[in-house]
Amino acid sequence: MIIQNNIPKAVEILTQGNLVAFPTETVYGLGADARNPDALRKIFLVKERPMDHPLIVHIGDLTQLSKWAVEISDAAWLLAKTFWPGPLTLILKKAPHVSDWVTGNQQTIGLRIPNHPVALALLHAFGSGLAAPSANKFGRISPTTAQAVREELGEAVTYILEGGACEVGVESTIVDVTGDTPIILRPGMISAKQIVGILKKPTQPAKKNAPRVSGSLESHYAPHTPTRLMTTEKIITVKDLPVAILIHSQIMLENKKAHIVDMSNDPKQYAHDLYKTLRDLDKQHFEEIIIETVPEDPEWDAIRDRLIRASS
Ligand code: TXA
Ligand code: MG
Repeated sequence: MIIQNNIPKAVEILTQGNLVAFPTETVYGLGADARNPDALRKIFLVKERPMDHPLIVHIGDLTQLSKWAVEISDAAWLLAKTFWPGPLTLILKKAPHVSDWVTGNQQTIGLRIPNHPVALALLHAFGSGLAAPSANKFGRISPTTAQAVREELGEAVTYILEGGACEVGVESTIVDVTGDTPIILRPGMISAKQIVGILKKPTQPAKKNAPRVSGSLESHYAPHTPTRLMTTEKIITVKDLPVAILIHSQIMLENKKAHIVDMSNDPKQYAHDLYKTLRDLDKQHFEEIIIETVPEDPEWDAIRDRLIRASS
């Protein structure tokens, strides 16, 4: 496996129906030509992902939106124009040609323009949509560095484009805009409040088990090490355990044996650091990873969501 920055080579590999892992501002994606069913199939094999889980198609500019989706509402256009390129995925009614591998046999498609120079250069050079789930095995933590992709997928992926550490660090906000009321299927660092602010109408959180969003499975984004969420008060009472503890408030712990990780109390920085921190801790084989619960404020929604899934 090569970690590289050769865009023409990556385009050549994709055109031949093979996979290229590439950076986005959220997490690294495992990309395939979204028009090529054989290439799409490889994504599911490498990730060991259930075949009916739909994929997000990444596009390079707004003009491509209507090539992949139909019946795009004014609200959908407004969100696309406001937040793209950026960490927002829109669920829209699919165009007739879109492969079942992309949609998981549903009538909808997830689309986004990522905000990362390498992803945009790749998409512009490729000239069409790239289906790309996060470049991890199904159910595991998404990779936020090229090295993490290599460790996660090994020789199954032959080409990784280098793009540094992902700035956002958690996956995009997913909004279903096929109906009258937008539904937030997966919280991300673009908050429901920001979306409401632009659309001037309320959004709805996802109903349990409604659409097939793998990120909505209860156990997901999980390290191998058993992981538990704990309130600050409870963490203070944990004595002398051979565990790792992630804290973001400035509590003083006299815990001698525990490995304390000081996380930021700024949600942006916390999100940026979270997956890398969990990956590093996973390698150290603690008995357990204990994570301090985070504030109820909306800015922490995406992080709270991932922590609950990582620990269930
Ligand atoms: O930030 C991200 O969104 C990253 C980067 C690489 O773009 N991608 C990502 O992909 O997180 P993935 O496959 O790991 O998660 C995408 C989620 C899945 O849970 C999938 O079920 C959901 O999007 N999804 C895709 N298309 C959908 C559709 N048509 N309807 C409902 N959910 C959909
Ligand atoms: Mg994923």
